[in-house]
Amino acid sequence: MTIKDTLKRPLRDLRISVMDQCNLRCTYCMPKEVFGADYAFLPSEKLLTFDEIEDLVRIFSSLGVKKIRITGGEPLLRKELPQLIERIISIQGIEDVALTTNGILLGHYAKQLKEAGLKRINVSLDSLNSTTYGQMNGRKFPVERVLKSIEQAAAAGLHIKINMVVQRGVNDGDILPLAKYCFEKGYTLRFIEFMDVGNTNSWNLEKVVPSREILNTLQEMFPLEPINPKYIGEVAKRYRYKNTDKEVGFISSITESFCSTCNRARISADGKLYTCLFATEGTDLVGKIRDEALANKELTDFISELWNKREDRYSDQRVELSKQPSKQKIEMSYIGG
Ligand code: GTP
Ligand code: 5AD
Ligand code: SF4
Ligand code: SF4
Repeated sequence: MTIKDTLKRPLRDLRISVMDQCNLRCTYCMPKEVFGADYAFLPSEKLLTFDEIEDLVRIFSSLGVKKIRITGGEPLLRKELPQLIERIISIQGIEDVALTTNGILLGHYAKQLKEAGLKRINVSLDSLNSTTYGQMNGRKFPVERVLKSIEQAAAAGLHIKINMVVQRGVNDGDILPLAKYCFEKGYTLRFIEFMDVGNTNSWNLEKVVPSREILNTLQEMFPLEPINPKYIGEVAKRYRYKNTDKEVGFISSITESFCSTCNRARISADGKLYTCLFATEGTDLVGKIRDEALANKELTDFISELWNKREDRYSDQRVELSKQPSKQKIEMSYIGG
């Protein structure tokens, strides 16, 4: 079954956050001044159980979802994550399962993830310079350990994409070194424009490095050619290094928003459904399973009606919306990007 929202966008991707906590404090996501020792993370009984996640994936699959992304916070902090991944992969209709991680625990879990059937992972890596990386991750975590983890994941047979959030004056000097490193290792690098998600990351337009600028810089060193999207609604614009099969991508939510084809729904770690990354409110799904004991059919109809009413296109409207009184947005660590 295919369901469409008010802008005729189908529901194809589901991003599931399995944990709101993280072992890093990236300045652009969970600044340590805000996410300190007294920050109230979700108590473990509020987290969706693996059974509940599996039930929800089956329901979403029946509504047309083909791709599942596991996120956090840091998803590898969730106990037994490979087991959940194995369960999701076996659900009928799910064609692609992926994991977005900061890589810290990846070395430890790489083999188990591969054995669970996972094919690919996206790892956040903003700099190869240990000082810059340590500053950006808020915990002075050394880059060498993440690089080693990534190598272990590659050796285990996982396909690797690297996510680099670029901030002017912070890590824009790392663009070429990271591009070179990823090219040599065979990882696909994606440059991500710093986004105004949440309420705490001190976002401003001056810190955004437009993708076009990065593309121009990169092209001076390496000739690139655009690649057609694999499917409608792909987040990254992809390019190939000429005469190779190696790729690089650009995620340009600020300068080239992609809401018109956005087919993504998100579920927070405590089971709320969000129809946009910049949403201010979610809809409780877990309560409908736990307290109201809704039958699958009723929950399916409920989600379908909700999607039919969806109007979200925040990034398209960001400039207009910024002139209005702002509401509290959800935090990136809670919804997983
Ligand atoms: P692939 O399936 O490998 O292409 O992954 P992806 O790029 O969809 O997922 P990933 O978790 O690696 O996210 C990369 C960046 O894209 C993160 O900064 C996300 O926040 C951002 N992103 C993903 N989906 C959306 C979206 O719907 N809207 C916006 N504005 N940003 C998004
Ligand atoms: N802007 C852009 N990307 C962000 N991420 C986290 N916060 C932001 C932000 N403010 C990225 C992470 C991770 C992905 C899920 O989202 O680096 O790779
Ligand atoms: Fe953690 Fe990822 Fe947020 Fe960094 S971007 S604080 S690694 S959830
Ligand atoms: Fe989708 Fe919202 Fe991102 Fe636009 S801003 S692409 S509607 S999640």
